[in-house]
Amino acid sequence: MPVIAVTKERRPGESRVAAVPETVKKLIGAGFSVIVEAGAGASASYPDADYKAAGATLAKTAKEALAKSDILLKVRAPEATEIAALKAGAIVVALLDPHQDRRRLEALAKAGATAFAMEFVPRITRAQVMDALSSQANLAGYRAVVEAAEAYGKAFPMMMTAAGTIPPAKVFVMGAGVAGLQAIATARRLGAVVTATDVRPAAKEQVESLGAKFVAVEDEEFKEAETAAGYAKEMSKEYQAKQAALVSDHIKKQDIVVTTALIPGRPAPKLVSAEQVASMKPGSVIVDIAVEQGGNVQGSKPDHIVDAKGVKIVGYANLPARIAYDASALYARNVAAFAGLLLDKDGKLAPDFDDEILKAALVTRGGKIAHPALQS
Ligand code: NAI
Repeated sequence: MPVIAVTKERRPGESRVAAVPETVKKLIGAGFSVIVEAGAGASASYPDADYKAAGATLAKTAKEALAKSDILLKVRAPEATEIAALKAGAIVVALLDPHQDRRRLEALAKAGATAFAMEFVPRITRAQVMDALSSQANLAGYRAVVEAAEAYGKAFPMMMTAAGTIPPAKVFVMGAGVAGLQAIATARRLGAVVTATDVRPAAKEQVESLGAKFVAVEDEEFKEAETAAGYAKEMSKEYQAKQAALVSDHIKKQDIVVTTALIPGRPAPKLVSAEQVASMKPGSVIVDIAVEQGGNVQGSKPDHIVDAKGVKIVGYANLPARIAYDASALYARNVAAFAGLLLDKDGKLAPDFDDEILKAALVTRGGKIAHPALQS
């Protein structure tokens, strides 16, 4: 019976876990046995006893869990000590940050691991249940607005009281993908007046259907800015200049800005300049969800709340980890579904490397970095 290990996340601030009791049960039902490192779920509020009750074996250390396991499920890439403890030819499934963390990929390749990056799961219908980027971005978008509300010294909804009326907050969401759309929905639920922008024309209707106003330079380039995979392209200098002018005028009237703009495999586009930050009223708040990919906002700093002359720039690098219970539950379902692909019809560990999903997500195999987009 193929054995899965789930170890504790060791990166600072990473409070998620790659399996929850519910998915342990599912994995066992699918024909795996599961070993969980003691304490792996504690920071996401999943106690060891619940894993045990779900049928997992508990191991005292990661090393002990890995010694017997064919597959390691993680949120983030395994640490060097975990890589060293992998069995020969073991499979690793995690958010490996393949474009930015090349050294880790090299270490995995050197260790002979077969590694799959959850970021590379293709956005096809069959793989929707495995789409970890979406499951985590959705919660990040929600959490970003909660963080904004917490850092903002005023109310979001309009309030009419005996002592006078409080106007609603004006929220501007830049980048209306999965995270941005959830940020719009959350800000609307809190009663804010919401506008949003994106470079993909498909975003316009989605923004409007959530009751927000769409603000963008809608020229010829905009009409062609979506790739076949549904992602944004990097925009030309000319477009960026037009976009900046439009944003300048809009941003100074906003109370809250949430930026979520990303381009796969590239640094995050710079959308808010220091001058634009300075044009906002004191007490305004900017939340830069893209801070870990270089940031959309000039002056944002990972894991810092920067005070730019009274404007707070919130840069939590790992927003899903700040809603760890739900983020873990969704991610755990994503990876459990992915693990199911590694078995053949008889429940034997026999990944079909020609399968469209496995092929797209495979990053190391046979001692080498395997993905075409990662060849240097
Ligand atoms: P993402 O995380 O790569 O980027 C976030 C957003 O930033 C995107 O909407 C992108 O267009 C926008 N952006 C990039 N450069 C920008 C700029 N200069 N100015 C303003 N905005 C900019 O994208 P995400 O959220 O992962 O998804 C993108 C699209 O894919 C969405 O429409 C989403 O609904 C769709 N999608 C489709 C799925 C499927 O078909 N299975 C699953 C998940 C998402």
